[in-house]
Formats: sequence, C-alpha cells, structure tokens
Amino acid sequence: MIEVKGLTRRYGAVTALAGVSFRVESGQIAGLLGPNGAGKSTVMKILTGSLAASGGSAMVAGRDLASEPLAARRAVGFMPEHVALPGDESVWSMLEFVADLKGVPRDGRVARLEELLVQTGLQDVRHRLSGRLSHGFRKRLGLAQALVGDPPVLVLDEPTSGLDPNQIVGIRELIRGMRGQRTVLMSSHILSEVSALCERVVILDRGCVVAERSGDGLGDGAAAGASARKVVLSWDGDRALVAAALARVAGVDDVVITETGAEVSIAGNAVEIRPRLVESVLQAGGQLQNIHDKGPSLEDLFLSLTGAKGHASAPAAPAAAPADTVAEAPADGPADDRGEDPA
Ligand SMILES: Nc1ncnc2c1ncn2[C@@H]1O[C@H](COP(=O)(O)OP(=O)(O)OP(=O)(O)O)[C@@H](O)[C@H]1O
Ligand SMILES: [Mg+2]
Repeated sequence: MIEVKGLTRRYGAVTALAGVSFRVESGQIAGLLGPNGAGKSTVMKILTGSLAASGGSAMVAGRDLASEPLAARRAVGFMPEHVALPGDESVWSMLEFVADLKGVPRDGRVARLEELLVQTGLQDVRHRLSGRLSHGFRKRLGLAQALVGDPPVLVLDEPTSGLDPNQIVGIRELIRGMRGQRTVLMSSHILSEVSALCERVVILDRGCVVAERSGDGLGDGAAAGASARKVVLSWDGDRALVAAALARVAGVDDVVITETGAEVSIAGNAVEIRPRLVESVLQAGGQLQNIHDKGPSLEDLFLSLTGAKGHASAPAAPAAAPADTVAEAPADGPADDRGEDPA
C-alpha cells in the first residue's frame, strides 16, 4: 500500500505540496493526475526516498519513509519522469548495478534481468551505452530499473510519455498485468490511459488534492460521486417531438438531440428520473430502444477541477491546505533538491 498524510514540500518560496493526503490499497493501480506543476513528481520523489518532505508522512508497503528509509526504498521501484543515466555504462550493466543496490540474489539474477529486457523491449540495445539511448529507450530502461528488485510498490512518473505506439501498448499491458500483484501509482497526462488502467485516481492541483475517485466506472466516465449526470436515450419515432417532451420532464436541465435519440442532462439534485423519461418517450409516440446513464468523463472532471486557470507553476495558497496539515519544517536548502534517483 501507499499512504501519504499531510505531505508538504517547499522549494524555497514555492510551496509545491500544501498538505497532500491519500491512500492506495495493496494491489491497486492508482493514477495521480494534475496540470503541469501540480506537484505529482514531487509526491513521487518523496514516496521513493529521492526527495525529503518538508512535513507530513509518507509510507510504502507499511514502511515509513522517515523512520525506515532503507526498508521503504527497497520496497518501492521508481521510474522517474526524467531518467538520469551515466554515459559509460551499458544497459545490461546498469540493470546489474540496480540489482546489486536492491539486493537481488545472484541466484537466478541473469534470468530475471533477461526477462525484464524482453518485457520492456530492451533486448536489442542491451550492449548500448545507456547515456546515449534515445528518450523512449531511456524510459524503457527506467521502467526496467524500477522492476529489478521485484518491489511490491511501483511509482511510475509518466511511464508512457515519449514512447512509440507499439511500446505504449506493451507498457500499458505490463502495468495492467500488475493489478492485484503490486501497488502501482502512476502519473499521466493521457486521461484515457488512466481511465483504462487505474481503479483509483487522485487529482492534484497546486499542491492540494482536489478529487479522489475510485471504482470500475472510471473507464466509461461514470466517475463515482460526480454531480453532473446525463442519461442517453434512443428511440424509434419523431426525434424533435419526443425530445421536446423530454425537455418538459421535471429535473431535466437540457436535451441534446443525437442521431438515435437524445442526451439528457439531469439537474444535480434530481432523484431517480429514468421512469419519468421513459414514460414521456412513450407518451410522445416514441418506441424506446435503449436508455443508459452517462456520468461526466474523467476529462470533464479534470477540466472542471483544474482547467482554465492558467497557473503553470503558481505556488499553492496556504489557505487551501487541509486543517490537519502537519506543521512544516523550515524550507529546505538546495542540498535536498536532489532530483530523481536512478534506482
Ligand atoms: N527543484 C525545484 N526547485 C524549485 N521549484 C521546484 C523544483 N521542482 C519542482 N518545483 C516546483 O514545484 C511545483 C510542483 O512541481 P512538480 O514537478 O512536482 O509538478 P508536476 O505535477 O510533476 O508537473 P508536470 O506535469 O509538469 O510534470 C512546481 O511549481 C515546480 O515549479
Ligand atoms: Mg512531473
């Protein structure tokens, strides 16, 4: 599992995290979303021990990053946003190096690394110098490194950005296959990818959690708990006449005619309205073919919570921090801004 409570982080005068709390259960795949500069990478660096928090706590696989840093770091594999690689080591020796760091037993190690090369599509570049790899191959090596120690928790910062379409499909399948086996926290700007892979999403904006959603409904946009709701109906019969009847039903906000019927927006506080919609279709002479709910998509949710504010890297307003935010330590010096960890 992953648990962060009241996590804060300042970079000098910039408050990157203003009291972030969320939890990911064991075996879950969770998505961390947010606009550029929201704090996603900062959370991930703290969770993987490559950056110190200013306040609050972070835990992976039951280990506290502050009080058990070594055990915590062993339990988590990290694929950073920008994979830092030395110029003079081959892909294979980089993986061996990480295997040493993670304490992977020598017995069976070669087979394990060979398997990883195949899983991440690195077979053909195994002898190449890692520092000379293209962006996509660096990402793949970053993922392979994250997986070397067979960690129960994986943190993947934009794992598919910059990959070619074939690799994107492969890496998504690899991540999907981890469901139930590892706890995964991944960030991505590709919302359809998050919908398809994640059972849970946490949306950050300016260093604060602005939404948390979970459930299988993420994929079809039925993000649980979202207020705006639509019902999609299709019928045989006069389109305009039936649509006008639907618009008169109490609780209907708007009706948009589609090719096969209409999409009806329901007022936020309207209770179960579908029987009344069905009745009005029938009364207006339509023969109902289909009716189903359509919640706001993850994209709708994302845009409504974070969109159109134009705050590329604006510091979080201290007032936005939750009441239980842990008292912050003084701003850290540059020594802590270590950036990502190759392992
Ligand atoms: N080393 C640093 N020094 C100063 N400020 C930093 C540093 N790293 C990040 N920040 C600031 O912290 C905030 C959060 O940055 P972070 O990289 O965590 O965002 P992000 O959500 O990962 O964004 P992106 O989607 O662009 O990757 C931003 O305002 C950023 O400018
Ligand atoms: Mg980032």
